[in-house]
Amino acid sequence: MQYLGGKAQIRKDVCATVARFRSTDQVVWEPFCGGLNSAVGHKGLVICSDASRSLIALLQAVRLGWDPPSVVSRETWETSKTLPETNPMHGFCKFGCALRGIPGTFSDVSSTKPLKTGAFQPAATTARNALLRDARKPSAIFWADFLAIEPRRLSAVIYCDPPYRGRTGYDFDFDHDLFVERVKEWSRFAHAVLVSEYDFPIGEIVWERLRGGKTSEGSRLERIYRIR
Ligand SMILES: C[S@@+](CC[C@H](N)C(=O)[O-])C[C@H]1O[C@@H](n2cnc3c(N)ncnc32)[C@H](O)[C@@H]1O
Repeated sequence: MQYLGGKAQIRKDVCATVARFRSTDQVVWEPFCGGLNSAVGHKGLVICSDASRSLIALLQAVRLGWDPPSVVSRETWETSKTLPETNPMHGFCKFGCALRGIPGTFSDVSSTKPLKTGAFQPAATTARNALLRDARKPSAIFWADFLAIEPRRLSAVIYCDPPYRGRTGYDFDFDHDLFVERVKEWSRFAHAVLVSEYDFPIGEIVWERLRGGKTSEGSRLERIYRIR
């Protein structure tokens, strides 16, 4: 599913990098699974979690058979904002039906131009197809705040794709300094810990690629760090 910071375009490279540090049949845990764009590329056992309640409710509902609509009216989209986060329609409209705004933030309405009737249809159809294709692929999906989990012995490769430092758009704050401490601790217990970032203060760079074309911020070197 199209997602803020999603790794669909570099999925192959991400998964090949993770595979380099993984022994056969070892579990991969993605604690920042987002739209599953990287998670669906790993072979074998993949465990996914994320701290967004509406995202996890949506993914779990689809895994249990909920069929997202392929058409979403403006009215449905507006109403979905008032639904509880546990209702998959809330997450579907929030993440799947972003048109001009940032996916995951209900931000389309900030645009001054009125949306045409049926404008949500292409986005909803695309998101529905992606969810039906991908949501059942991981072995497990659950809600978890990675920063609140005490590191423990784990025979798994942990691939972290957190909100990048300096990037905005998520609807909750992320404590980047605590994240650095946490991955340092996890690296003592897990088989391997890998982190996607542009610049990360610890670990060694095990993969990098220029990504993003020309933006006002210039091009960015997308990197994966192995934490030791
Ligand atoms: C860059 S996105 C992940 C994109 C995903 N890899 C993809 O390819 O679709 C970062 C994710 O981190 C999640 N997140 C933010 N803070 C978190 C936390 N403390 N614990 C777990 N997940 C968190 C956000 O909800 C978001 O889904």
